[in-house]
Amino acid sequence: MSLSKSKSNTNANPSLVTDHSESEASPSAVEKHTDHMLTQASIQDPATSDEVDFVHDAVLLPETVAAVLGVKSLPTQKDESKPQKSLQVSGVYVDATFGRGGHSRLLLSQLADDARLIVFDKDPTAISVANALASEDKRIHVVHDSFATLTTSLAALGITQVDGLMADLGISSPQIDDGSRGFSFMRDGAVDMRMDTSRGQSVAEWLEYVDEETLANVLYEFGEERHSRRIARAIKQMESYDSTLALAEVIKVAHPNWQRGKHPATQSFQAMRIFINNELGDVDDFLAQSIPLLKAGGQLAVISFHSLEDRRIKQFLQRHSKGQYPEDENLPMPPKRPRYFSKPKRVGPSKAETSRNPRARSAWLRMATRTDSDYVIDNAP
Ligand SMILES: C[S@@+](CC[C@H](N)C(=O)[O-])C[C@H]1O[C@@H](n2cnc3c(N)ncnc32)[C@H](O)[C@@H]1O
Repeated sequence: MSLSKSKSNTNANPSLVTDHSESEASPSAVEKHTDHMLTQASIQDPATSDEVDFVHDAVLLPETVAAVLGVKSLPTQKDESKPQKSLQVSGVYVDATFGRGGHSRLLLSQLADDARLIVFDKDPTAISVANALASEDKRIHVVHDSFATLTTSLAALGITQVDGLMADLGISSPQIDDGSRGFSFMRDGAVDMRMDTSRGQSVAEWLEYVDEETLANVLYEFGEERHSRRIARAIKQMESYDSTLALAEVIKVAHPNWQRGKHPATQSFQAMRIFINNELGDVDDFLAQSIPLLKAGGQLAVISFHSLEDRRIKQFLQRHSKGQYPEDENLPMPPKRPRYFSKPKRVGPSKAETSRNPRARSAWLRMATRTDSDYVIDNAP
């Protein structure tokens, strides 16, 4: 079976995969610090908030902006009513996942007038917000496309190298909160789940024709769903795929092993979302392009919310900061490869942040500095 959406060979071993999709899917409830208990008392609602305001609480905000600028911390701000003190950094920066612009806005506050910030998002609503910001701030350029198109999209703007790249992976609170987007198993809507609603197929369209075995493999590989076969069978027996609540109910009934505090459809919804948006393939493409794009001394800063992504970023940085190919028992010494990154580091949220924003619980920020090694095309593992 081939999972054609993902270019990458994920080889996911579910025993190694920590599913944080519920944490990732929790921000809407989180925004207003409200836990919603359903009839099953222990199921935490990932997409139910009494007040739907479609806002996004940016995670690891000062840490990420400091990382992409290559500084230990941002200037301290004693009086929050005053404008943020600014480092006035020049250069070209990329926010690969604009969302509602939390990270972009703080980064802009630290950039000089001659700096440039290129922002990407697949989501048309995020792009409208970005365009509104760009109309007020000439330093911003907006790209409505996947960050997997980084090199070509930047080249179209005449940019071949950048000083910093940041990405805050996954979906945003507004995407989950809006039931019509189909990400929520607690708010009804069409089974869509596309980040970019202007192109590509929805999950509903895919479910119409996908065979049961492929569906089961997707649930297993991208959702760590151990009961993937019986869930896939139940999904394929549905007559239509026009309601997220109906889909969630079918999964719930088919799932033999409910866990306290977790909706039984959590992993299946995560898997279908990751698959339909080619999330892991896009991350791999983005990371690979960061090597030739970043200037010597440039910074990479990536936030992830589940171990499928975090593991990829960790392995990428390990591979490119060690300076050696994996050991080959036929050779006396492993050959050298260029060291493209130095100082790889991982940072998690503070206790204060997780109590303010439980969505941050599963977040990890990984950062590294581009060395001055010239880029050489490398097909080795
Ligand atoms: C977690 S949110 C980012 C929130 C943002 N940092 C903020 O402060 O508002 C992730 C955003 O990335 C977008 N996204 C996810 N994968 C993408 C991809 N491959 N290319 C472009 N945008 C993507 C989603 O549409 C979503 O708006």
